[in-house]
Amino acid sequence: MKTVTLTNRDGATYLVDPRKPLLDSLHDQGVDLPYGCKYGGCITCAAKLIDGEVHQKAQVALNNRQLNDGYVILCVARPLTNITLEIGVESHDKLYRNPFLDPLAAHELKADIATPKEV
Ligand code: FES
Repeated sequence: MKTVTLTNRDGATYLVDPRKPLLDSLHDQGVDLPYGCKYGGCITCAAKLIDGEVHQKAQVALNNRQLNDGYVILCVARPLTNITLEIGVESHDKLYRNPFLDPLAAHELKADIATPKEV
Protein backbone atom coordinates (compact mmCIF):
# COMPACT_ATOMS: atom_id res chain seq x y z
CA MET A 1 0.00 0.00 0.00
CA LYS A 2 1.01 3.63 -0.55
CA THR A 3 -0.17 6.79 1.14
CA VAL A 4 -1.72 9.76 -0.61
CA THR A 5 -1.73 13.09 1.20
CA LEU A 6 -3.99 15.86 -0.07
CA THR A 7 -2.52 19.30 0.64
CA ASN A 8 -5.72 21.18 -0.11
CA ARG A 9 -7.89 18.90 2.04
CA ASP A 10 -6.20 19.78 5.34
CA GLY A 11 -3.48 17.21 4.70
CA ALA A 12 -5.91 14.30 4.74
CA THR A 13 -4.07 11.01 4.15
CA TYR A 14 -5.38 7.84 2.48
CA LEU A 15 -3.97 4.36 2.04
CA VAL A 16 -4.23 3.25 -1.58
CA ASP A 17 -3.52 0.13 -3.63
CA PRO A 18 -0.68 0.96 -6.07
CA ARG A 19 -2.29 -1.32 -8.70
CA LYS A 20 -5.44 0.83 -8.89
CA PRO A 21 -5.85 4.25 -10.52
CA LEU A 22 -5.72 7.05 -7.95
CA LEU A 23 -9.12 8.37 -9.01
CA ASP A 24 -10.78 5.05 -8.12
CA SER A 25 -8.85 4.62 -4.87
CA LEU A 26 -9.75 8.11 -3.66
CA HIS A 27 -13.35 7.83 -4.84
CA ASP A 28 -13.75 4.54 -2.96
CA GLN A 29 -12.72 6.39 0.21
CA GLY A 30 -15.18 9.23 -0.25
CA VAL A 31 -13.02 11.80 -2.05
CA ASP A 32 -15.26 13.28 -4.73
CA LEU A 33 -13.28 14.46 -7.75
CA PRO A 34 -14.22 15.65 -11.22
CA TYR A 35 -13.73 13.20 -14.07
CA GLY A 36 -14.92 12.64 -17.62
CA CYS A 37 -13.54 9.90 -19.86
CA LYS A 38 -11.70 7.75 -17.28
CA TYR A 39 -9.14 6.62 -19.88
CA GLY A 40 -6.60 9.45 -19.70
CA GLY A 41 -7.83 11.51 -22.63
CA CYS A 42 -9.90 14.47 -21.47
CA ILE A 43 -7.81 16.15 -18.69
CA THR A 44 -10.82 16.68 -16.38
CA CYS A 45 -9.28 14.64 -13.56
CA ALA A 46 -5.87 16.36 -13.61
CA ALA A 47 -4.24 17.04 -10.26
CA LYS A 48 -0.89 18.49 -9.24
CA LEU A 49 1.75 16.11 -7.90
CA ILE A 50 3.55 17.97 -5.12
CA ASP A 51 5.77 15.11 -3.99
CA GLY A 52 6.47 11.50 -4.99
CA GLU A 53 6.19 9.59 -8.26
CA VAL A 54 3.37 8.06 -10.27
CA HIS A 55 3.13 5.77 -13.28
CA GLN A 56 0.85 7.33 -15.89
CA LYS A 57 2.06 6.10 -19.27
CA ALA A 58 -1.54 5.57 -20.44
CA GLN A 59 -2.40 9.27 -20.24
CA VAL A 60 -2.64 11.18 -23.52
CA ALA A 61 -4.18 14.41 -22.19
CA LEU A 62 -1.13 16.28 -20.89
CA ASN A 63 1.51 18.03 -22.97
CA ASN A 64 5.13 18.35 -21.87
CA ARG A 65 4.59 21.74 -20.25
CA GLN A 66 1.78 20.37 -18.10
CA LEU A 67 3.87 17.31 -17.19
CA ASN A 68 6.80 19.57 -16.26
CA ASP A 69 4.45 21.61 -14.07
CA GLY A 70 3.74 18.40 -12.15
CA TYR A 71 0.30 17.50 -13.44
CA VAL A 72 -0.92 13.92 -13.25
CA ILE A 73 -4.03 12.25 -14.64
CA LEU A 74 -5.73 10.56 -11.73
CA CYS A 75 -7.91 8.16 -13.75
CA VAL A 76 -4.84 6.30 -15.04
CA ALA A 77 -2.03 7.30 -12.61
CA ARG A 78 -0.87 4.75 -10.07
CA PRO A 79 1.44 5.69 -7.21
CA LEU A 80 5.01 4.37 -7.35
CA THR A 81 5.86 5.96 -3.98
CA ASN A 82 3.95 7.67 -1.21
CA ILE A 83 2.68 10.84 -2.82
CA THR A 84 1.33 14.29 -2.02
CA LEU A 85 -1.29 15.81 -4.32
CA GLU A 86 -3.22 19.02 -4.75
CA ILE A 87 -6.58 17.94 -6.17
CA GLY A 88 -9.66 19.35 -7.87
CA VAL A 89 -10.10 22.58 -9.79
CA GLU A 90 -7.99 24.49 -7.25
CA SER A 91 -5.00 22.58 -8.63
CA HIS A 92 -5.73 23.66 -12.21
CA ASP A 93 -4.23 27.16 -11.87
CA LYS A 94 -1.33 26.32 -14.22
CA LEU A 95 -3.08 23.66 -16.28
CA TYR A 96 -4.34 25.91 -19.06
CA ARG A 97 -2.93 29.02 -20.68
CA ASN A 98 -4.09 31.34 -23.42
CA PRO A 99 -2.38 30.11 -26.63
CA PHE A 100 -2.67 33.53 -28.25
CA LEU A 101 -1.02 35.41 -25.38
CA ASP A 102 1.46 32.68 -24.49
CA PRO A 103 1.95 30.07 -27.26
CA LEU A 104 3.67 26.75 -26.62
CA ALA A 105 7.28 26.46 -27.72
CA ALA A 106 8.14 23.50 -29.96
CA HIS A 107 9.82 21.61 -27.12
CA GLU A 108 6.62 21.85 -25.05
CA LEU A 109 4.48 20.07 -27.62
CA LYS A 110 4.03 16.33 -27.72
CA ALA A 111 6.71 14.74 -29.88
CA ASP A 112 4.28 13.39 -32.46
CA ILE A 113 2.70 16.79 -33.14
CA ALA A 114 5.89 18.86 -32.80
CA THR A 115 7.63 17.03 -35.63
CA PRO A 116 6.12 17.27 -39.14
CA LYS A 117 5.36 13.89 -40.68
CA GLU A 118 7.47 12.69 -43.60
CA VAL A 119 5.40 12.29 -46.80
S1 FES B 1 -11.29 11.45 -16.64
FE1 FES B 1 -10.61 12.01 -18.62
S2 FES B 1 -8.45 12.14 -18.38
FE2 FES B 1 -9.14 11.35 -16.46
